[in-house]
Amino acid sequence: MDTQILTVDPAAPDPAAIRRAGEILRAGGLVAFPTETVYGLGANALDPAAVARIFAAKGRPATNPLIVHVADPDDVLNVAADWPATAAALAARFWPGPLTLVVPKKANVPDGVTAGGPTVAVRCPAHAVARALIRAAGVPVAAPSANRSNQLSPTRAAHVLKGLNGRIDMVLDGGPCPGGIESTVVDATGDVVRLLRPGLITVPMLEAVVGRVEVGVKAGGAARSPGQLAKHYSPECELRLSDEDGLFDDLYEAIHAGLKVRAILFSQPGAVAQEVRGTDSLPTYLPANPEHAATLLYDTLHQLDLSKPDLILVELPPDTPEWAGVRDRLLRAAGQG
Ligand code: TXA
Ligand code: MG
Repeated sequence: MDTQILTVDPAAPDPAAIRRAGEILRAGGLVAFPTETVYGLGANALDPAAVARIFAAKGRPATNPLIVHVADPDDVLNVAADWPATAAALAARFWPGPLTLVVPKKANVPDGVTAGGPTVAVRCPAHAVARALIRAAGVPVAAPSANRSNQLSPTRAAHVLKGLNGRIDMVLDGGPCPGGIESTVVDATGDVVRLLRPGLITVPMLEAVVGRVEVGVKAGGAARSPGQLAKHYSPECELRLSDEDGLFDDLYEAIHAGLKVRAILFSQPGAVAQEVRGTDSLPTYLPANPEHAATLLYDTLHQLDLSKPDLILVELPPDTPEWAGVRDRLLRAAGQG
């Protein structure tokens, strides 16, 4: 059966559409919806059978836990057994918004959501469609990115349908997602907050609220973030990273080798050599501002992937906190995470 598509105004979604989507969630179905980061694939987080459907639709390994979305910050107490002071401070500053907090879970959260672990990841999204949908469902909503496991995350309804058409009940099409990359994930269960996945809320922004933040998964620690597998968020073809100069060398070489190659740069457009100008391999320039680049990153990769190239070359942006989210996704797409 085809997936039902309902187009909604991203700022003021039609209540009737939201009501229908909320009914599907309450009945144990799957609804993809826009958030301020990427499209999520939602199910009732308290219904084990509905949660199992998410894993089946995505082909996601059961070892990778899900983020639970709530409409209002106060609703975390329906799924969190404890709300540490660091979590409260970060939520007060960044919610609703693109920050996910890992905290101790309540017993009513099914094992499927947490991959059997003692913690639950929660987030209160800022997107009007997401919040209206969660309110209409009347339950916390588990939602991974709405893509097949290991493929590119979706920032448009068309990206969702590319991977999941016929596998889910409905997509709410609220247009492109403004953020473009997934939320920042932090572990707030310890004395010191730990960054598990970088995003648009950067380490300096977190540190301004809670002091020192540790970065990366603790060796041997329980709170491994399985989304942090080396290969993830990938286009269908090979993706290779290099600095701007190296990228042009690789580009010339690939063109001469007869490969269908595409390139993405973040540097300001310079003079492009004749060899490239005469081909259909003209680079795509994304903004040199990391937030603006993030907005366009997955969309650009989806678009380039549609032309079925042999290779996508991407300039690796600088190793700074502001670029950490974009760099992380690119390194994983290249299998170097
Ligand atoms: O922006 C986002 O976060 C989007 C939108 C839909 O909200 N969701 C998203 O979900 O990116 P997903 O499933 O693609 O990524 C969830 C990440 C994974 O890296 C997962 O391992 C981690 O969060 N995670 C979930 N629960 C966790 C937990 N209890 N402890 C540690 N990491 C957890
Ligand atoms: Mg994902």
